[in-house]
Amino acid sequence: MGLNWKTIAGALVAASAIAVSGAASAKDFRLGLITPPPHIWTQAAEAFGAELAEKSGGEHSVTVFPARQLGNEAEMLQQLQTGALDMAFMTVAEVSNRAPDLGAFYAPFLANDIDHAGRILRTDGAKALLEQLPQTVGVVGLGYGMAGLRQIVSRGEVNSAEDLAGLKLRITPFEPILDFYNALGAAPTPMPLPSVYDALANGQVDAIDMDAELIWVLKYYEHADTVVQSNHMMFPMVGLVSARVWAGLSAQDRTLIAELMAKHVDSCIDSYVAKDRAWLEQIRGTGKTYVEVGPDFFGDAVAEWNAIWSEKSSALDDLRQIAADTAE
Ligand code: BEZ
Repeated sequence: MGLNWKTIAGALVAASAIAVSGAASAKDFRLGLITPPPHIWTQAAEAFGAELAEKSGGEHSVTVFPARQLGNEAEMLQQLQTGALDMAFMTVAEVSNRAPDLGAFYAPFLANDIDHAGRILRTDGAKALLEQLPQTVGVVGLGYGMAGLRQIVSRGEVNSAEDLAGLKLRITPFEPILDFYNALGAAPTPMPLPSVYDALANGQVDAIDMDAELIWVLKYYEHADTVVQSNHMMFPMVGLVSARVWAGLSAQDRTLIAELMAKHVDSCIDSYVAKDRAWLEQIRGTGKTYVEVGPDFFGDAVAEWNAIWSEKSSALDDLRQIAADTAE
């Protein structure tokens, strides 16, 4: 069940007609992400690039393109498929649009808290879900990172799930979250991260689904009346290499890149475990109405989501077992 770079490489080579020369050649890899430069993911990407340059003796380098400079995640995923882009740190959300099994990570309340989310992502069972990506999506997934658990920020008062009914509520563009808010009777509005601040500020949306880091650091709370701390979903990230680019790398380069990319995306898990609760406390301290809720708040929506996704993802039962095994 365990996944490592050799498993991925083996699957890819078997599926690919591209000849692998085995010869190392110097390369400046291009790595894209949608997060802004100070964001934890972007910092991890920069650290990955620096260590790859160092450990390859200067043979390889990485130019990081943050803040959607290369397009949104759907566009970057296409570029990875064609080989126009070498690497990305990307939401599992976007990848799950092409590989629905990964949608199981968004089972509401799968993780009990941020530490548990990290433990789930570090299991061999979770990593095994990446093995299908070369065939199904045309990318090689080398390891998971994450962002914080999901919360709700609203321009109006929210005291019950009924208050969310009909609200234009910004979501990350992916199906599991769309199904969740549809089940709640909200009007989920898919919107990429860089558009969110203005949309909330000018009332284009009534509420947003977001994590504590960005609510605090990007000051989304300034344009809200209520913050609902619900911790309703985890939010994994994955370090990706274009399968086409991967097929052209030497075995030595694959080993180095796999090891370092996995290390640096994993470092994001440590960062959120260390900081997520503190950001929530800072948000609570702003004096906005702050409501702490659990699964009961969402009524039947959780069960409805589970029914929908037991059909859409074959990984849901396995991930539930992993979550049970890693709970404390
Ligand atoms: C979001 O879509 O909410 C998001 C994307 C990347 C990192 C964190 C949040």
